Amino acid sequence: MAPYFVLAALVCVAVAAPQLEDATCDSGSIRSSSGECQKVSRLHHGLGASYPSVDLLEGQQVEVAVQLTSQDWIHFQLCGSESCNLVVVWGLNPSGELYYVNFTSCNTDGDWNTGVRGPDVKPEGAAYFTPGQYSFVAEHRSSQLVVWLNGYPQGAGLVSANPQLNQLRLRAERGTPMNVTFEDSTCASDSSNFRCGDGSCVSIWFKCDGFRDCADGSDESDDICDTPVATVSVGEVVTVRVQHEEKHGHVDVSLCDNASCSTLALYGSTPEGALWFFSWTGCNALGANCTAGVEEYPIGRKYFPSGELVLAVQRRASELAVWLDGSPDSVANVTVGAANRRLRVRPIY
Ligand SMILES: *[C@@H]1O[C@H](CO)[C@@H](O)[C@H](O)[C@H]1NC(C)=O
Ligand SMILES: *[C@@H]1O[C@H](CO)[C@@H](O)[C@H](O)[C@H]1NC(C)=O
Ligand SMILES: *[C@@H]1O[C@H](CO)[C@@H](O)[C@H](O)[C@H]1NC(C)=O
Ligand SMILES: *[C@@H]1O[C@H](CO)[C@@H](O)[C@H](O)[C@H]1NC(C)=O
Ligand SMILES: *[C@@H]1O[C@H](CO)[C@@H](O)[C@H](O)[C@H]1NC(C)=O
Repeated sequence: MAPYFVLAALVCVAVAAPQLEDATCDSGSIRSSSGECQKVSRLHHGLGASYPSVDLLEGQQVEVAVQLTSQDWIHFQLCGSESCNLVVVWGLNPSGELYYVNFTSCNTDGDWNTGVRGPDVKPEGAAYFTPGQYSFVAEHRSSQLVVWLNGYPQGAGLVSANPQLNQLRLRAERGTPMNVTFEDSTCASDSSNFRCGDGSCVSIWFKCDGFRDCADGSDESDDICDTPVATVSVGEVVTVRVQHEEKHGHVDVSLCDNASCSTLALYGSTPEGALWFFSWTGCNALGANCTAGVEEYPIGRKYFPSGELVLAVQRRASELAVWLDGSPDSVANVTVGAANRRLRVRPIY
C-alpha cells in the first residue's frame, strides 16, 4: 500500500515647534545656577548614571519620544563594548532640521571629550530645544546612526557607525531628567516592507519569492511562506490538500535536491480534471529562477476556484507526476534529477 501523506498549504499572505530661548551663553556653554556661563565639557565627566537605552542593531529603527522638562541638549549615543559615537542635538529650526554636532570614538560613558568632533551643523533659523515633548526617529543604517525629528527626515543628523555599536542611549547634556520611551519602528515607515529575522527590512515583494533577500534567509523560511515539505521515495504517492484561494495564484509543486528543484506550476483545470500547468526545470533550491519547460493548457480550462484542492503527487523514476484526486488519467509531469526527493508545495502569492 502506498504511504499516505497529507500536506496542507495554508497561506497567510499578507501576507513641537521649537522656540528660541534667550541664550546669552555661547553654544559651548550653559548658564549655571549662579548665572555664569560655564563650559559644557566640564559637566561631562563620570556621570556614571544609567540612561534610557535600547538595542539598535544594524537595520533597525526606533521612534524615540522625549519629554524635556527644562532647556537641555540631547545626546543620541550609539555604543558598543568599547566606544560610543554620538549625535549631539542642540535644537531645531522651524523646518524641523536638527542643529547638531557628531562625535566618534568616545569612551563607553559617551563622554565627548574623549572623542573626535565633527563640524557643527547649524541650519538656518536654528534654536536650542525648549522644554516640551519631542518625537525623534533613530535608525542604525549600514554604516551610520541617523537621527531626525519625526516627520522631517530631510533634516537628519548623522554619525558613522559600525555593527559593533548596537545600543542606543539617550542623555540630556545638563542632566535634566528626561522621560524617554522607545518604540520599534523598523519596517514601519510603510507596510510594504517585510521584517527579516535579524531586524532588517526588505520589500514585501521579496517575501516568499523564492530568492533569499534577507541576510538570514528568513523571507523564505518554510514557516513564513507556509511551504509544507516532505521527503518522498520513488513510487510513493502523496496526497496534498491545499486550502486554495484565488488570490494565491498558481500552486507550485516542486521536487528538489539540496541545490535545485523541478517545478510544476498548477493554474487550474478543465471540469473533467485535465490540469492546466507549466513545467519548469533547473530551479533554485526554493523552486524559483527556473528554465521554462512546457505549458499545457487544455481547452475548457479554468483557474482553480477557492476551496480545497486535493492533489496526488508521485515521484516516479525520472519524473514528478501530479494529478487531481479522482482524475489519474490527466497527469502533469516534469523531469527530475535522481537525487530530487524533497517535495515542496506552495502557493505563489
Ligand atoms: C558628521 O556630520 C557631518 C555633517 O552631517 C557629516 O558630513 C560627517 O560625515 C559626520 N562625521 C562622521 C564621522 O560621521
Ligand atoms: C513618561 O511618559 C509616559 C508616556 O507619555 C507617561 O505614561 C509617564 O507617566 C511619563 N512618566 C513620567 C515620570 O513623567
Ligand atoms: C543534502 O543535505 C543533506 C543534509 O544537509 C546532506 O546529508 C546530504 O549529503 C546532501 N546531499 C547532497 C547531494 O549534497
Ligand atoms: C538565476 O539563474 C541564472 C542562471 O541560472 C543565474 O545566473 C542567476 O544568478 C540566478 N538569479 C538569482 C537571483 O539567483
Ligand atoms: C510525461 O508523461 C508523458 C506520458 O506518459 C511522457 O510521454 C513524457 O515523456 C513525460 N514527460 C516527462 C518530462 O517526464
